[in-house]
Amino acid sequence: MRLATRTAGFTPSPTLAITARARRMRAEGIDVLNFGAGEPDFDTPEHIKAAAVQALAEGFTKYTATAGIDELKDAVCLKLKRDNGVEYRRENVIISCGAKHTLYNLCMVLFQEGDEVLLPAPYWVSYPEQVRMAGAVPVSVGTAEADGFRVRVEQLQAACTDRTAALILNSPCNPTGAVLTRKDLEAIAAFAVGRDLTVISDETYEALTYDGREALSIAALGEEVKRRTVLVNSLSKAYAMTGWRVGYAAGPVEVVRAMDSFQSQVTSNPTSIAQRAAVAALTGPQDCVRAMREAFAQRTALCPDKSVDLTRHLRGQKSRARAPCE
Ligand SMILES: Cc1ncc(COP(=O)(O)O)c(C=O)c1O
Repeated sequence: MRLATRTAGFTPSPTLAITARARRMRAEGIDVLNFGAGEPDFDTPEHIKAAAVQALAEGFTKYTATAGIDELKDAVCLKLKRDNGVEYRRENVIISCGAKHTLYNLCMVLFQEGDEVLLPAPYWVSYPEQVRMAGAVPVSVGTAEADGFRVRVEQLQAACTDRTAALILNSPCNPTGAVLTRKDLEAIAAFAVGRDLTVISDETYEALTYDGREALSIAALGEEVKRRTVLVNSLSKAYAMTGWRVGYAAGPVEVVRAMDSFQSQVTSNPTSIAQRAAVAALTGPQDCVRAMREAFAQRTALCPDKSVDLTRHLRGQKSRARAPCE
């Protein structure tokens, strides 16, 4: 059968390919560590699972509004105010099937042929592919190890042309772990406002910072930058909910409306019972997030000391730890 020419440019996600390979190797009895998809090895906390079970028992199994149930949009607004100090209303929020889906929808509604999109590198593998799928051009902006891989505003300025439409920020960054400071973000915000750029702020790893560092949202730095920012976040990493597929965006109403229209023709709503679980995650006790972060922090402490055999340490752990708050 003939394939559309556009498929020639499609490449499978390398992290998912590595993860699938690791799974196959494990099934063959090979002892392997998977550094592919970023996936907490904790189980989803019990109170979150219980909310999904209750939703099932209540027959909450039908289509919902495309952009998600109001209860979850309100939970997202509450979370963004509580954790990020940034205020949004229901109409600024859309729920999708994971942040990957959110980011794809965003690329499709924001970018067009010829647009350039700045990507501080190293970056998460899906950004350039999604930008290309929308017909735009990803522009890699190299960062330096000496700067802790934090992008400097001069590097962004140097890569910016009159075709630059947007900037994708990812702090904390996958894969480098770089966390942008308030000063970094203020400089980037001034640059984005001055050049009239859209900022996509992927805050998927927000909950996982160590050594006293704290992730800040660029949207919290003032109305001018907030107006041109779309904040993206996910339940996957913070609540060990990778398989539930719940992510969201918060931003200007016209962007959210366009994403809603697009999503309504492609996937409709995210899974109904996963949405109810997400409400429990965002509005319920947050000590499970802190406890998982603590456990990860203890593991990162093993890395700098090369005398420690990290491989052996990890192999000694149970492959599916329980969430420490259970
Ligand atoms: C930087 C970054 N953004 C977004 C995602 C997507 O997460 P999800 O689709 O599970 O919400 C990932 C997943 O690994 C990621 O690393």
